[in-house]
Amino acid sequence: MRSLLEIIRETEKDKVAIGHFNISNLEQLKAISHVAAKLNVPVIIGTSEGERDYIGVHHAVDLVKSYNKEHAKGNYRLFLNADHTHTLENARKAAEVGYDAILFDGGKLPLEENIRATKEVVEMVRKINKNILVEGELGYIGSSSEVRKEIPEGAAINPGDLTRPEEAARFVEETGVDMLAPAVGNIHGMFANAPEPRLDIERIREIKKAVENLPAGRQVPLVLHGASGNTDEDLSVAIDAGISIIHISTELRVAWRKGLEEALKENPDEVAPYKLMPEDLAEMEKVVERKLRLFNKL
Ligand code: G3H
Ligand code: ZN
Repeated sequence: MRSLLEIIRETEKDKVAIGHFNISNLEQLKAISHVAAKLNVPVIIGTSEGERDYIGVHHAVDLVKSYNKEHAKGNYRLFLNADHTHTLENARKAAEVGYDAILFDGGKLPLEENIRATKEVVEMVRKINKNILVEGELGYIGSSSEVRKEIPEGAAINPGDLTRPEEAARFVEETGVDMLAPAVGNIHGMFANAPEPRLDIERIREIKKAVENLPAGRQVPLVLHGASGNTDEDLSVAIDAGISIIHISTELRVAWRKGLEEALKENPDEVAPYKLMPEDLAEMEKVVERKLRLFNKL
């Protein structure tokens, strides 16, 4: 069975990206898995600290394992990421229970502090299991997957605040991370009725080049967070510029709510969840399918 890193390396060669979707309930997982099986592609399932507190880390690991067992075929495979982990303790817990990847999010910290804290997480995780991929975050892009009215306070949007290529290279070298999430004009969450700020494609290219120039074995893949609300065109060009994994959460949350509201409206007397959920699943699957076709160039 191919590891997550091997799959990422293949997608880099093919100039496609792996979709990463956040979940906090079974229906979201079901919808993502169904589309991944239909399109025969690997997918990363993310749970932030809040999402995994709600699901339970053991349940999250067991659910993903059982989906892999049940649907094992072709390129289908679910991987589990402990998304936006803010403490060493939470990273340890995720590593011990069997997550495939951990994002330690020091994006809001000053550079030196971010390097120190991320390095500590990398060293701790390596001791538990060398196969777990650790991702580091450089630059602050807001913290909630929500429908918002304005750019989150302190988020990097101006060119001067985005991740700098030379800092990205230093961060990767000194921390030892396996993947890097830069701030390149991406923002967590999305606007209800307005487009997201454009991504800085040139900055993505420069960061990719900077990490490619690192010594052999240290050329880490780039992860794009906060991709809800970005245009298809921006995301496609970002993949060509060097993005290997793309995170979507808010758009899936919005679809979950819309599907549920419609199902309740159309079936005002229904009380069986499994009879209401198919409509909700269909709404979420539309989002997942559109994104996975885009990311995988299908
Ligand atoms: O880690 C989660 C993602 O970065 C989600 O961002 O809510 O803007 O899609 P999003
Ligand atoms: Zn994120």
